[in-house]
Amino acid sequence: MHVTHLSLADFRSYARAEVELGPGVSSFVGPNGQGKTNLVEAVGYLATLGSHRVSADAPLVRAGAERAVVRAAVVEGDRRQLVELELNPGRANRARINRSSQVRPRDVLGIVRTVLFAPEDLALVKGDPGDRRRFLDELVTARVPRLAGVRSDYERVLRQRNTLLKSAAMARRHGGRGVDLTTLDVWDQHLARAGAELWGQRLGLLAALGPLADKAYEELAPSGGPVGLEYRAAAVEEPVDAAGREELYGVLLAALGEARKREIERGVTLVGPHRDELVLRLGELPAKGYASHGESWSLALALRLAAYELLRQEGPEPVLVLDDVFAELDARRRERLAGLVSGGEQVLVTAAVPEDVPAVLAGARFAVSGGRVERE
Ligand SMILES: Nc1ncnc2c1ncn2[C@@H]1O[C@H](COP(=O)(O)OP(=O)(O)OP(=O)(O)O)[C@@H](O)[C@H]1O
Ligand SMILES: [Mg+2]
Repeated sequence: MHVTHLSLADFRSYARAEVELGPGVSSFVGPNGQGKTNLVEAVGYLATLGSHRVSADAPLVRAGAERAVVRAAVVEGDRRQLVELELNPGRANRARINRSSQVRPRDVLGIVRTVLFAPEDLALVKGDPGDRRRFLDELVTARVPRLAGVRSDYERVLRQRNTLLKSAAMARRHGGRGVDLTTLDVWDQHLARAGAELWGQRLGLLAALGPLADKAYEELAPSGGPVGLEYRAAAVEEPVDAAGREELYGVLLAALGEARKREIERGVTLVGPHRDELVLRLGELPAKGYASHGESWSLALALRLAAYELLRQEGPEPVLVLDDVFAELDARRRERLAGLVSGGEQVLVTAAVPEDVPAVLAGARFAVSGGRVERE
């Protein structure tokens, strides 16, 4: 698929922007702070309902404005669709498809597909487990949009269960009656149900992604590999692979039972996908804490390229976004990356100076400066 028109109103630094896009490569070039990343961030938002830079929507709305609107015309084969999201920080966001009736924002998922690689992705390797969980969950949702519902169910159940555990912990400390265990049993089942679904999807994703990530790393970097992706679940000591949902449900429920005493003491849920970790390895060593800066960068990029390859194999080709990545790469890696992605249906590249963009990726060039985006 590709985006043929992007329209922004009060998004980030843009009061308004209208950008015509074609298939193939488009590059956005301009000095720092002119709004290049803001543009591609908007495309990414349509695909994931989130920003790759911030976790809340408020910074995405232009300072002084009340709401932002991101709209895109999208072509997939011979099908055309118009998607629109209205961001209302502090209130519910709104969505429309083809200008018609109101739909839920999550109904928009799957129309715009993107894989976005940006400097922030170094956190995939060096950051907290939460950064890697977000990577996995965005990707499972891109593969199976209905997972957006499972994720929000899981988060809701987790919040409610934590509230219950917290009040139990308080009651204990003050010599009260403690928690109603029957109620907790019910929450355990809900948590295990949604948790097993998410866990299973993450495991399935990793099985498909592993070989692709290893291949992409090998193509980019001369040494360090192979890449290892190991899922470490808080619920079990030993890795469980590719188990069925019922089995994972049983494992999770049993682990919740076992952790209950500690959970009631601490007032928080200690097992489940929200505590799981994806361990990345280069060769024998964990990447986090061991890999060099260049290796970490190549590994993060390899993960994104693997995601791109996977989504491409499984459904409509995603838009590949490369935000400011070439400046970080040496000449050899630049050429490799350019070669790997130049045949993509749509590739959006940003760079501060034109020299950073390899010749094969120059494509249609846009100058971004002072809030204006102009085709050169
Ligand atoms: N909500 C907002 N309201 C107004 N301006 C904003 C908002 N959010 C960000 N900006 C402005 O947008 C600019 C950053 O834009 P962006 O990140 O797209 O820059 P860039 O062109 O990618 O720069 P670089 O080359 O440094 O990556 C900053 O000047 C910032 O102050
Ligand atoms: Mg930028």
